[in-house]
Amino acid sequence: MTTPKTPVADVGGAAPAARPTDLQPAAADFAAAYPVRPVPATGPVDTAPIATTPAAVEELDGLWRAVVQETRTRGNDIHLPISLAFAERLCRAYPDADAELVRVATLLHDTGWAHVDESRILSEGFTGDWRKANIRYEHEKQGCDVARRVLPGLGYSVEFIERVCRIIDGHDTRPVALSLEDALMRDADRLWRFDQAGIALASSWFKMDPATYTDRLATEIVPELITQAAVDMASADLDRSNALLKTAVIR
Ligand SMILES: [Fe+2]
Ligand SMILES: [Fe+2]
Repeated sequence: MTTPKTPVADVGGAAPAARPTDLQPAAADFAAAYPVRPVPATGPVDTAPIATTPAAVEELDGLWRAVVQETRTRGNDIHLPISLAFAERLCRAYPDADAELVRVATLLHDTGWAHVDESRILSEGFTGDWRKANIRYEHEKQGCDVARRVLPGLGYSVEFIERVCRIIDGHDTRPVALSLEDALMRDADRLWRFDQAGIALASSWFKMDPATYTDRLATEIVPELITQAAVDMASADLDRSNALLKTAVIR
């Protein structure tokens, strides 16, 4: 299965027709500010198993409680906490990023899956040109609606909420990252797949055996990562997961 790459430095490419037309200047600004790809880390890079550094205790518990219903679809109750733990790690590696923005956007980015036709998630969202499937656009829009519904009551400002939505809207379908925070959310969203739990869940969604799936992680997903810290974390996790699952033999 081939998937579109994430040409973070290629800001000249055409955005999907359905996307707002004001996104390219932000993508160009980001590409100019971070011309070296993958983006080198300026802080510590932790490549240990993600289970050793869960997401910060209690700090976002109010937000988690507000979206429990949304975590019960498409493995979000596994995908989102692991992605958040990776997001926090990435924020330590890139201290210039607005960590709160990255964390909140990552926690909420896929909550929209709970508000689309569940029967279409696997039939359309994980087959064919899945990143261009209509249901992908729908889950992004629905995720923004979740953010606008739950964040005001937790004290987040309107301006902050719109920055969160700007990241959520297009996180799967927009071909370019718009900011460092957007890039870190995207990398966190990919990094969870390299953990054993991610391989177990996502390989079943794509109807692949673990060896085929980990091959695909190496050839298709690692090259999409925007930051060097994410590349280092993914490579270390992939080595561990391949050894544990004996994918060199069971294929
Ligand atoms: Fe998504
Ligand atoms: Fe995701």
